[in-house]
Amino acid sequence: MSITILAIESSCDETSAAVCVDGKILSNFIATQAVHEQYGGVVPELASRAHMQHIVPVVDRALKEAGRRLSDLDAIAFTQAPGLIGSLLVGAQFAKSLSLALNKPLIAVHHMQAHVLANLIEDPKPGFPFLCLTVSGGHTQIVRCESPHQMSIIGETIDDAAGEAFDKSAKLLGLPYPGGPLIDKYAKTGDPNRFKFPEPQIPALNFSFSGLKTAILYFLQENTKTNPSFVEENLADICASIQHRIISILMNKVKKAAAETGIKDVCIAGGVSANSGLRAALKETGDKLKWNTFIPAFQYCTDNAGMIAITAYYKFLAGESVALNTSPSAKAEW
Ligand code: KG4
Ligand code: ZN
Repeated sequence: MSITILAIESSCDETSAAVCVDGKILSNFIATQAVHEQYGGVVPELASRAHMQHIVPVVDRALKEAGRRLSDLDAIAFTQAPGLIGSLLVGAQFAKSLSLALNKPLIAVHHMQAHVLANLIEDPKPGFPFLCLTVSGGHTQIVRCESPHQMSIIGETIDDAAGEAFDKSAKLLGLPYPGGPLIDKYAKTGDPNRFKFPEPQIPALNFSFSGLKTAILYFLQENTKTNPSFVEENLADICASIQHRIISILMNKVKKAAAETGIKDVCIAGGVSANSGLRAALKETGDKLKWNTFIPAFQYCTDNAGMIAITAYYKFLAGESVALNTSPSAKAEW
């Protein structure tokens, strides 16, 4: 008997649905909300409204691409936490309605755990235990993953997330939101060693990015005082230097985590794992230190329902479902 799961992700500004059959993702459709661009960040109320507009066509499309019908489903999964509460509510209510109408189990998934388990979607997969650096717009964590059901945070940011560091730096440079992918793009032709930004000394396996943001602000104020076109003239080198520092902050802690735990299977996940410099740095460090390194395919790095579906598949196998009165939560508690 095969197991077919429909998963819905609506925690932030992407409405996504995926169909998973026996642990294989058959479709992973993602509708991005362009409405936020003009505001330089996600506007929660607009995100909720856009989810309501997108959810029916997105689910329909995911089912069609997978060649499955509602009557084929064995369970419905949704992102329960963390995220924007209004956005989460849309996906949760939709999933509950389907679960009730089809009389199929409802599976609640933690968004950050799903980012980690995105590494189990495609082959080759990491062995357990593995380490995962989860870097997104809202979170920066090093997770020790013992099994699909057991993982713990062994390091995390004490202020901004890595994605925020990219986005806030980009904003200071006058680039539109989200700036992370643009910094990545301009960094490709720049010199990463041209400008030196500080690396904070934070204890244990934790991260901090707020000092970097302030350093960049003062650096730009200082340089544009004497040359108003400083940013335009040096954009590639500035982007490359900022990216270089964010990556070194991340990789130094991952190296420390691997040394302390003795774990050699190392993954990255989350939106920032789409960054080409970070991907290259993980590969290079892994080759040097003899790690097995894993990075999900691009479509499973940024917010997507495929990762919710794979997490739900393991929960289904373990018989984990939730009652219809389960509420979504904005908080990230594990
Ligand atoms: O995981 P994600 O899609 O959403 C959250 O759960 O936050 O991550 C979004 C973050 C944004 O900060 C975005 O700028 C960043 O991922 N991002 C990148 C790149 N692609 C996405 N940052 C740097 N380089 C990229 N190529
Ligand atoms: Zn995310």
